[in-house]
Amino acid sequence: MKKAWKIVIALAVVLALAAGGVFAVFAVKKNYAPVNRVTSVAEAKNINPYVMPIKLIAHRGYSGIAPENTLAAIEAAGLADFYGAEFDVILSADGEWFVMHDVDVARMTDGEGLITEMTSMQIKKLKIDAGNNVIQHADEKVPTAREAIESAIENGLRPVIEIKTGGAEPEKYRELAYMITELAADDYTVISFSLDVLVQMRKYLPEGELWLLSSKVTTEQIRACVEAGIDGIDFNANHILNHRHIKQILDSGLLAAAWTVDNIRMVDRMYSKGVYFITTNFIQPA
Ligand code: G3P
Ligand code: CA
Repeated sequence: MKKAWKIVIALAVVLALAAGGVFAVFAVKKNYAPVNRVTSVAEAKNINPYVMPIKLIAHRGYSGIAPENTLAAIEAAGLADFYGAEFDVILSADGEWFVMHDVDVARMTDGEGLITEMTSMQIKKLKIDAGNNVIQHADEKVPTAREAIESAIENGLRPVIEIKTGGAEPEKYRELAYMITELAADDYTVISFSLDVLVQMRKYLPEGELWLLSSKVTTEQIRACVEAGIDGIDFNANHILNHRHIKQILDSGLLAAAWTVDNIRMVDRMYSKGVYFITTNFIQPA
């Protein structure tokens, strides 16, 4: 074959591959669309006609639609067909697990003070008075962990339970673990920024899915998770500067998950690296 023809064929192959790559990117992009500050799930569905191929977890419930960490937000996540609902659990002064992100109740409720210093009775009197579309959810209370797990299951969602309390009595983790398996069998994920907490939970949840939350992934962290029998690393997508760490996570046999992703281009980036669990405030499955 003449040299000129060889060059033409090589160029054609390169162009075809490039076109395939571009097509692949668009194919992924067309699988989801962002929802920004809509007021209802029905409204969100209207502007989001795509099918989401990856597993979307509603952050603090569907907190883009309803006040975070409430039963209303979990119900909204179910209506929107999320894969899972993430929520934060924290211990009260008298040892009951409640759902709240902050230690201080002031940001989300009509009360003030530290939830860790309040009794269950005091916490149950608080009213949620902040968060998205709070006016439509004027009767929301601070749920117990039990209520939140039950609600997730009733709404067809995998509970993704973030343990905020570190250093509690082992008995308290045991109680939480038993409650989780009693309500959710094996269909749950427990997450925590504390490897120690996860190691405690592993004792009581030998079959459970446990992910370490990471603000900044390191090789040592990946190694420690493997050694401790942790199933995955759920990292801050905005701080993962070194994508080799994602490959390391996957190559180590761990699941890779990312939070909190509200940007479609970031979803694309994560998806293309093999991250199939995305925690989001606003991006909604079809
Ligand atoms: O899903 C993980 C994410 O919730 C961790 O951060 O502060 O929202 O609990 P934070
Ligand atoms: Ca959380």
